[in-house]
Amino acid sequence: MLPWYPASWREKPARQLPAYPDPAALADACQQLGAFPPLVAESEVAALRADLAEVAAGRAFLLQGGDCAEDLDAQGGTPARETLRVLLQMAVVLTYGAARPVVKVGRIAGQYAKPRSADTETRDGVTLPSYRGDIVNGAEFSAAARMPDPQRLLRAYSASAATLNLLRALTQGGFADLHQLHRWTSDFVRASPQGQRYAQLADRIGEALAFMAACGFTQDSAAPLRAVRFYTSHEALLLPYEEALTRRDDAVGDWHATSAHLLWLGERTRQPDAAHVEYLRGIANPVGVKIGPGAPPDDVLALLERLNPARAPGRVVLITRMGAGRLPERLPPLLEAVRHSGHPVVWSCDPMHGNTVTSSHGVKTRDFGRIVQEVRGFFAAHAACGTVAGGLHVELTGLDVTECRGGGQNLGDDDLARRYTSACDPRLNGSQSLELAFLVADLLKAQRG
Ligand code: TRP
Ligand code: MN
Repeated sequence: MLPWYPASWREKPARQLPAYPDPAALADACQQLGAFPPLVAESEVAALRADLAEVAAGRAFLLQGGDCAEDLDAQGGTPARETLRVLLQMAVVLTYGAARPVVKVGRIAGQYAKPRSADTETRDGVTLPSYRGDIVNGAEFSAAARMPDPQRLLRAYSASAATLNLLRALTQGGFADLHQLHRWTSDFVRASPQGQRYAQLADRIGEALAFMAACGFTQDSAAPLRAVRFYTSHEALLLPYEEALTRRDDAVGDWHATSAHLLWLGERTRQPDAAHVEYLRGIANPVGVKIGPGAPPDDVLALLERLNPARAPGRVVLITRMGAGRLPERLPPLLEAVRHSGHPVVWSCDPMHGNTVTSSHGVKTRDFGRIVQEVRGFFAAHAACGTVAGGLHVELTGLDVTECRGGGQNLGDDDLARRYTSACDPRLNGSQSLELAFLVADLLKAQRG
């Protein structure tokens, strides 16, 4: 194989990259990005690798979640704060149920690029480039908005930095303190059955904390209770952006992506000999790959050889998104093949993307019942194969949206019109997310026996 360098992906066929009308303007934006500070530190990336190695070994659980696509307009930080709030709630529920650490990773602070099935979109006889996420162009259906604009790379960097700064402030500055866990419940969740179950759990943890304080665990000795390590991730789609933020650690001597701690590839860009895999193979970050029902086990093994020839634990997360119906047939052969190969992967379940349907009003939605079914199938398949059901990857928001059907609020087709604000795929709302966390916690608890 030829040597890797941050731009070596340019020698390979690349899918899903926008056609910029002015390549010089793109090069100029990338040059500016190249002079910006890294968003994440190599030491944090190394810590995530170590945490994920614990997940691969079955000693920790991975929780990854956030918007399908983030909005470049940060809206005062509200969406990011609400996503963090619900992820913390889910993490508490899972930590308690599983009695093992939860590795917390947001689809956040950089999730701005989307793959599309078609390059163009036609409405009323007008054909324009498809919307590819805020880092590329605007969602509005006008020629001006849909033109890929390199200035958006710089805006995406700024928005990522601002969001990351807020997340660091909240996770280190007291918001994530376990003594505050009642405060993570938003008003609309509080009244729901999940909210009540959470309040009971919070009371129990509160009692345990009071007991520990009485036993002499003080501010200093109980520091882990007061903050969390929180990692960021996004789909590694817009390679010019990722390349510009790739840096070499002089002490360690390896390259890493500094746009986020973890990057993943979607189903559409994971061909072993193409540009996206070429980029990911050279960075030291943990990398995820989405695996759908059509992926032959041999393709997955080829991908693992390419991405992780050294078989380092904590390097690769395989995120399966089979669809509840096809999972029982498609997942087990994959688990067998990977186990047999000896590759130390983290297996994570994305129960969202294989279960997307269209409502009776023509709206993209997902049924909570199917999501639950895929999660259950995932745990059952791993139990049968003797592999580790390591994580959960979900599209969610802490906000009170109505995008997925079902759940405790029993949302139906007519409800979807009320608060459907996703720019892309339908997300679980705060209440549905918490409900899913309780379900997974119960499955993990059952494993403990
Ligand atoms: N620091 C520990 C952890 O991250 C405990 C903890 C503090 C925690 N705040 C939390 C766990 C919020 C879950 C959610 O696991
Ligand atoms: Mn999506």
